Amino acid sequence: MGTNVCHTNYFQHTIGDDEHLYDPNLLKNLNWSRTKSSLNPEITNENPGESWIVVRPLRLSDFDKGFLQILSQLTAVGNISKSDFEQQFWNMRKAGGYYITVIEDTRSKQIIGSSTLITEFKFIHECAVRSRLEDVVVNNTYRGKQLGKLIVLTVTLLAEKLGSYKMSLDCKDNLIPFYKTLGYKLEPGNSNSMMLRFEKIDPS
Ligand SMILES: CC(C)(COP(=O)(O)OP(=O)(O)OC[C@H]1O[C@@H](n2cnc3c(N)ncnc32)[C@H](O)[C@@H]1OP(=O)(O)O)[C@@H](O)C(=O)NCCC(=O)NCCS
Repeated sequence: MGTNVCHTNYFQHTIGDDEHLYDPNLLKNLNWSRTKSSLNPEITNENPGESWIVVRPLRLSDFDKGFLQILSQLTAVGNISKSDFEQQFWNMRKAGGYYITVIEDTRSKQIIGSSTLITEFKFIHECAVRSRLEDVVVNNTYRGKQLGKLIVLTVTLLAEKLGSYKMSLDCKDNLIPFYKTLGYKLEPGNSNSMMLRFEKIDPS
């Protein structure tokens, strides 16, 4: 079996308004040593270069800090009420394996970046853990300051810490160079992404 010893059942902890989606302690002591060439100046999730930048797990209270508005810079979000948001937050936390990680500007108390790590338990490769990167976005007024790299590398190193044997992502062609600088590769003969979109089913 792999080294997936860090997967705690955080759902068993207390429930409150400022709950994190996952245990914030998992973001401590990530192994930034091998990402040195990707960042100039060097920053980490625990030392992000500015005192007003905080990198942390998504919180229930982030509905009021512009989290969904950030996602709408990535794709269509639709109308989501606070109760819809909270229900989905608890769905994710109950299911486990969802590591939505955000950057907050503590001066404005607004979420300015986000990325999602999703882990999947496998039987193959001796009960391995496989990871996927999803929903990477930085607020357009904060782009070009390494925050995109910071948030992607943070969840990538978290995936490694959780014992993942690989991590993959889907992206548009123009972002291939961005992800290449962070260590992601197009593997020859193994870099196709296929899609089947389902019609929305009318529940009535
Ligand atoms: C992609 C994104 C997260 C990058 O955030 P960022 O904070 O600007 O990124 P950084 O400052 O850390 O890195 C910028 C680097 O990426 C490159 N880059 C960023 N966005 C790019 C884009 N759309 N096309 C091409 N290159 C891009 C920059 O040229 C820069 O390269 P350099 O370091 O060689 O100068 C941000 O542009 C964004 O939120 N885009 C909209 C949502 C999106 O497309 N998300 C990705 C889904 S796969």
